[in-house]
Amino acid sequence: MFADPQLSPLPHAQARAHAPAQPPALRVGIIGMGTVGSGVWRVLRRNQALIAARAGRTITIVAVATRTPARAAAVLEGAPGVRLLADPLHLAADPGVDVVLELAGGTGAARGWVLAALAHGKHVVTANKALLATHGEELAAAAARHGRVLAYEAAVAGGVPVIKALREGLVGNRILSLAGVLNGTSNYILTRMQAHGLGFAAALTEAQALGYAEADPTFDVDGTDTAHKLTLLAANAFGMPLRLDAVHVEGISDLQPGDLAAAAQLGYAVKLLAVARRDADGVQLRVHPALVPQRHPLAQLDGATNGLRVQADAVGDMFYSGAGAGGEPTASAVLADLVDLARLPVGTPGRVPTLGVHERGAAQPAPLPMAQVHTRHLLRLLPGAALNEAAVLRLLTRAGVAVQRRAWGPDHAGAPTLLLVTAPTPDAVAAHAVELLQAHTGAQVRRLRVELCEAAESP
Ligand SMILES: NC(=O)c1ccc[n+]([C@@H]2O[C@H](COP(=O)([O-])OP(=O)(O)OC[C@H]3O[C@@H](n4cnc5c(N)ncnc54)[C@H](OP(=O)(O)O)[C@@H]3O)[C@@H](O)[C@H]2O)c1
Repeated sequence: MFADPQLSPLPHAQARAHAPAQPPALRVGIIGMGTVGSGVWRVLRRNQALIAARAGRTITIVAVATRTPARAAAVLEGAPGVRLLADPLHLAADPGVDVVLELAGGTGAARGWVLAALAHGKHVVTANKALLATHGEELAAAAARHGRVLAYEAAVAGGVPVIKALREGLVGNRILSLAGVLNGTSNYILTRMQAHGLGFAAALTEAQALGYAEADPTFDVDGTDTAHKLTLLAANAFGMPLRLDAVHVEGISDLQPGDLAAAAQLGYAVKLLAVARRDADGVQLRVHPALVPQRHPLAQLDGATNGLRVQADAVGDMFYSGAGAGGEPTASAVLADLVDLARLPVGTPGRVPTLGVHERGAAQPAPLPMAQVHTRHLLRLLPGAALNEAAVLRLLTRAGVAVQRRAWGPDHAGAPTLLLVTAPTPDAVAAHAVELLQAHTGAQVRRLRVELCEAAESP
């Protein structure tokens, strides 16, 4: 019997001589050993062997920089061979580090660390959406200039791989729109307000007690954190520059229990929604509370879960959801970026452009002013004056607003409240109609936008 020369085993010494050299370990330095940093440490240690098998080389943490190295030492439990540094700039310049993980946060010092690491020829992985939304153009340009990768899967939707989905999985599609629930803290608060009739302040206090909200939750509840993430998503979806300044942002702190009760009566949940939509006139970029039909998958995201609906021309509708925060879910996204880097031939630049496109076309899609954005609106006319429904409808017609649904509901004190859902109406027109109604009826009018009511999705 003849042995197939391609299959027959080589003698040991010959096999060693022919085996491809094992690439050197990827040496990682971490700035920040808090929730995310310690999550990366734990998951990498637990899954070391399978990650190495998938990456084709070992990934080793060799240095950690934090403000208080003693705290980091407690996390590392005396792991040998990990250097503890007090200055992140020393880590960024360390010749024994191939990749810097920026897992500390902030936009001032962190910008300097990332620029320094790139200038020293290191790839950078960050979870820091605030940094990228404010300085991302500068940092992406620096990465390109130095031929290094700036990766940030963990910066949007925690463990849900939406950046990879947009830049790689959906790369052949024209993206039409994105709609997401991208902040777990505000979603937890809204879920509690909706389910238990809590006011905003009570729900926030509860979220803080349970660790779902930071001591300073400002960026979570005022929409800023969601706007940071939307800015990154929109750049990757539409090939446009990062435009945090162009995002219309409203938070959830002004919502009243009665708003959520009225929404529920009409078949909606209230979500802090991020929307980016490409229209003929420009790109809508907006973050605000919105009524979403209860049957929609985004309406069903409870607690700290994140979700993103993507509409694309070839694949149609896609929906991604999962843990949007937390040490190990976020570490999952950081490790995905690290394995991408480990798989690159040593010394080569990345294969995926930082912000989704290698070169932006001459005709950039411009952001559309909020005043021109068309949505449906829920108008909730609070008692305070005897309301004449016919007169209200006449005023709305005069203001150019068509009404599609009408209902009466009690407010939280049991008084009758008129609920009107409009046809899609430009935002400026709806705002003017509210002023007109308040002036002529004496009623206090609450306005909330209604979203995702495509025919199949309306309640
Ligand atoms: N937590 C999440 O679920 C999550 C999810 C997605 C993205 N992110 C992002 O991930 C990043 C880290 O978040 P985190 O929740 O892990 O924060 P964290 O728990 O507060 O930990 C921050 C770490 O960074 C260190 N640090 C802060 N400022 C520093 C400085 N000037 N010099 C050196 N070290 C510094 C801290 O050191 P000390 O301990 O010594 O103070 C700490 O180890 C942020 O950008 C955040 O937005 C977080």
